[in-house]
Amino acid sequence: MPVSTARIATAQADHLLHLLRSAAPLDGGHRLARPDGGICTFAVTADALELTATAPDAAALAGIRRTVTRLLAEAPAAEWSGPYDGDDLETTHPVAAAYALAHCTPADPVLHELEVETRTRTGGAARMQVSHDEGAFLTMLTRLVGARRAVEVGVFTGYSSLCIARGLADGGRLLACDVNEEWASIARGHWERAGVAERIDLVIAPALDTLRALPAEPELDLAFVDADKTGYPAYYEELVPRLRPGGLIVLDNVFLGGRVLDPAFDGPDHRAIRELNAFVAADPRVEAVMLPLRDGVTVARRR
Ligand SMILES: C[S@@+](CC[C@H](N)C(=O)[O-])C[C@H]1O[C@@H](n2cnc3c(N)ncnc32)[C@H](O)[C@@H]1O
Repeated sequence: MPVSTARIATAQADHLLHLLRSAAPLDGGHRLARPDGGICTFAVTADALELTATAPDAAALAGIRRTVTRLLAEAPAAEWSGPYDGDDLETTHPVAAAYALAHCTPADPVLHELEVETRTRTGGAARMQVSHDEGAFLTMLTRLVGARRAVEVGVFTGYSSLCIARGLADGGRLLACDVNEEWASIARGHWERAGVAERIDLVIAPALDTLRALPAEPELDLAFVDADKTGYPAYYEELVPRLRPGGLIVLDNVFLGGRVLDPAFDGPDHRAIRELNAFVAADPRVEAVMLPLRDGVTVARRR
C-alpha cells in the first residue's frame, strides 16, 4: 500500500492534535480514516506532529492527504514525502550499500570462512548473519567504549559475537545468548581460530531468562540485540538499567526491511519494533541515533 509521511515542526503538537480532534472524529484519538480506505495516523513528539498517511491506491492516498491538509489549514504547512511502499522501500540504495561494503577494511580469512560455512550449512538462514561492515562497526564500537563486559542477544553462527569479542579490552568477556545449539555450535571453531573463544560465555537458553539473572548493577559496557523481534522491548528494558553511564546498546534490524515505515504492515514484529523505535527516541535514559546501515542499526548511549 502506498504510504506518505509528513512532519509539522511545532512545540505544541499536543495542541494541534487537540484541534484536529475537535474538527474530525479520530479513532483512538490519533487516527483519521476515510471511507475509501485512506488513513492518517498522528504522533506527538517533543518538537513535532508526525503524520503517516496510507491508502489502498494513489488516488485514495492523495485524498487523505488533502483532507488532512484542509483540517490543518491553520498549522504550518506539512511537506508530504513522495509515496513509497514499505515492501519495496530501499532504506539504503543497494549500489551505495555495496560501495560502503567494498570500502570498509576487508574481512580477514577467519570471518570469510565463517561466512562461507554459514551459507553452506544453514542455507537461507544465512541471511540472518550481520554483514561484514556491520560486524566491523561492532568491533569499532566495542573498542571505542573500551568494553570489558559485553552482552549479545542473538548469536546464530557467531559472526557478530566474534566481531564484538575482538574489540574487547584485555580481560573482557562477552556473554552470548541464543536458543539454538545447532547453529551456535558452528561458531566455536571459528572463535578458536580467531583466538577469542576464551572470552565468550555462550548460554543456550531464552535470552530473557539469561538477562534477568544478571546482576542488577550498571556494569555493562556494550549490548548488541539481534534476535526475535517481539522480544526486543523486554531485552531493552533488561539491558538499559545494566549499562554503565556511557555504555552502549546497539539494536539491529530497526527498519525490518523498510516495513516498519509502512503502517500497512501491522504484525507483531512490526508493532514491536515500531513502538520500540519511538520509545528509544523519547527515552530520557539514553541518547540515540538510528543509522541507515544495512537493515537499520540504532546505537543508544546511556546518559
Ligand atoms: C538474526 S539471528 C542473529 C545473527 C547473529 N547476530 C549473526 O551475526 O550471525 C537471530 C538469532 O536469535 C536467536 N533467538 C531467537 N529467539 C531467541 C530467544 N528467545 N533467546 C535467545 N536467542 C533467540 C535465534 O536462534 C538466532 O540465532
